[in-house]
Amino acid sequence: MSESVCRPKPVNVASVPHRSPFRYPGGKTWFVPAFRKWISSMQNKPSLLIEPFAGGGTISLTAVSEHLVQHAIMVELDEEIAAVWHSISNGDGDWLAKRILEFDLTKENVTHELQKTDVDLKEKAFQTILKNRTFHGGILAEGAGFVKHGENGKGLRSRWYPATLAKRFSNLNQIAKDITFLQKDGLKIIEEYAEHEDVLFFIDPPYTAGGKKAGKRLYRHFELDHEQLFRLCESIKGNFLMTYDNADEVKLLASKHGFQTRLIAMNNTHHATMEELVIGKELSWL
Ligand SMILES: C[S@@+](CC[C@H](N)C(=O)[O-])C[C@H]1O[C@@H](n2cnc3c(N)ncnc32)[C@H](O)[C@@H]1O
Repeated sequence: MSESVCRPKPVNVASVPHRSPFRYPGGKTWFVPAFRKWISSMQNKPSLLIEPFAGGGTISLTAVSEHLVQHAIMVELDEEIAAVWHSISNGDGDWLAKRILEFDLTKENVTHELQKTDVDLKEKAFQTILKNRTFHGGILAEGAGFVKHGENGKGLRSRWYPATLAKRFSNLNQIAKDITFLQKDGLKIIEEYAEHEDVLFFIDPPYTAGGKKAGKRLYRHFELDHEQLFRLCESIKGNFLMTYDNADEVKLLASKHGFQTRLIAMNNTHHATMEELVIGKELSWL
């Protein structure tokens, strides 16, 4: 097994443009510099990026906004997250921006909005953003609840930045034509595009390999056949990168399938330095 730790200074996420409307558990803003480096190490610019476990979608949004690829396909199973990406694809980014700017965020108003059932897709997208911004840790999975004290004791409003969020939605409206969103199983999309040589995959699955529980608490969809994912990656004719938590079971899987691994240092949201595992066919560029 080939592994080494990349120990440049951990990425300062404040220096990376934040393009996702989500505050997403396991979000990949810290991976953006490494992703740019990966693309610039390639002789031919790839035309299509596929993100089979898109979540907050930071890597796809960056790739398209910075013209690193022509088009991105984002895939995600979660219905609430899907409502947001579908609404953006439908051209409702500006509608969402306006809805956010006009909303008076109080506990009563949020509770009232979230109680509404039988809403259309863009209202469902708005509900998702409200939850994501007012629930502890941005967690949408079952059992999540409102933040208690929040940043600087600002409680429920501590992660509600209407102007910033509205701007992100308006920006997303500009790149919507370069993104295709599909609500389906990420493993299926890999299977469908594995033979395409000019396709790149950025694969960031829920971390549940080796019995790790983090993914269970964070995501509604956390169960995954990790062995099958690695098998599928072996069939990819283009190229891929995977990110995982640094667990022995994952390193064993990578080695078994003939992939290289590297550890990248990152600062988590609590400013602690952590290491995440990057897996790929060939990682000498990193
Ligand atoms: C680690 S998170 C991805 C985070 C993302 N890279 C970001 O920057 O926000 C994994 C995501 O995979 C989704 N997911 C889980 N199983 C899936 C499946 N079989 N197909 C598609 N998405 C799935 C979860 O809902 C979760 O959003």
